[in-house]
Amino acid sequence: MSSRLACNEVINHAAYPIDETDNPARQQVIEQVKRELAADGCAVLRSFFSEAGLQALLAEATQRKSETYYSPRKLCNVYLNDGKPEFPEDHPLNVFIPRTNGFITADLFGEETTAHRLYYWDPLKQFLAECLGKDELFIYEDPVSNMIVNVGKPGQQFNWHFDTNEFTITMLLQGASSGGIFEYVPGLRSAEDECYDEVKGVLDGDRSRVKPLQLNAGDLQFFLGRFSLHQVTENTGDNDRLLLIMSFSEKPGMVGSKARVQNLYGKVTEAHAENTVRADKLVD
Ligand SMILES: [Fe+2]
Repeated sequence: MSSRLACNEVINHAAYPIDETDNPARQQVIEQVKRELAADGCAVLRSFFSEAGLQALLAEATQRKSETYYSPRKLCNVYLNDGKPEFPEDHPLNVFIPRTNGFITADLFGEETTAHRLYYWDPLKQFLAECLGKDELFIYEDPVSNMIVNVGKPGQQFNWHFDTNEFTITMLLQGASSGGIFEYVPGLRSAEDECYDEVKGVLDGDRSRVKPLQLNAGDLQFFLGRFSLHQVTENTGDNDRLLLIMSFSEKPGMVGSKARVQNLYGKVTEAHAENTVRADKLVD
C-alpha cells in the first residue's frame, strides 16, 4: 500500500515550485503561462506531475471508471442547452452534434483523494490566479462538476462546445493511443458578442482557425474555455482517454445551470436549484 503523497510531491516540484512564492523559477513559469494565454487563451506546462503523482491520480480515476456517467442524450449544441425553437433550424443554437464521452463526477472523489486535495490546495489556486493576472480566484462551487474526469472510450468523442466557467485547467492522465486530440478555436466569442456566424462557420467545417494541441500524460493545460470553442476528437485508439478537469471562477458562488448539469452528469443537488451566477450574459 502506497503512502499518501503531499501536494508538493504530486507535482514535478523541481520544475514547478509553485508553493515557493519567492522562488524565481516560479515567477518564470508564471510569465511563460501569461505569454501563452495572451497569445491564444491556452497554455501548457509539460510534465507538471511527478511520476508518483501521476500514478496516484490515474489510479483514482481508474478505480472510479465503472461509475462514469454517460448522458442518454447523444446530440448536443455547442452551448449544451436545449436550443431555441424561435431561431432558424441551422442557427448554432439549434445545431445538435454527437457527444458520447462520459464523466466521473466530483462527488465521487472524497476529501482524502489526491485529486480532491490538489484541487483545494491553496498554493495551486494562488499560482493560477497569478498566471491569470487576478488578485483572487475562486473554486467553481458546483458540487457535481467542479473537479471531474472526462472519460473517452474508443469510439467516443466530445464535440464542439463552450464551457460554463471562464477558466479551466486540465491534466491528461492517460492519452488515447490514437485520436482523442484536443482542438480549439481561440477567442471565437467574447463576453459581449456570441459571434454566431463564426460559430456556424466552424460547425460547417471551416478549419482555418482550428488549432490542434498534442498533450501527453502528466501535462497541465490552462484553458479559457468560455470564449474558445473546443472539442476532443474521436478516440480511434484501443485504450481509454482520461482527463482530469479542475474549474475555477472569478466570482464566488458559481454553479452550472440545472438543465446542463442534469444532462451532462446525470444528477443535481440543492445548489442547482437557485438562479445561476454568471459574469456575462452569454447563452452558456
Ligand atoms: Fe470544455
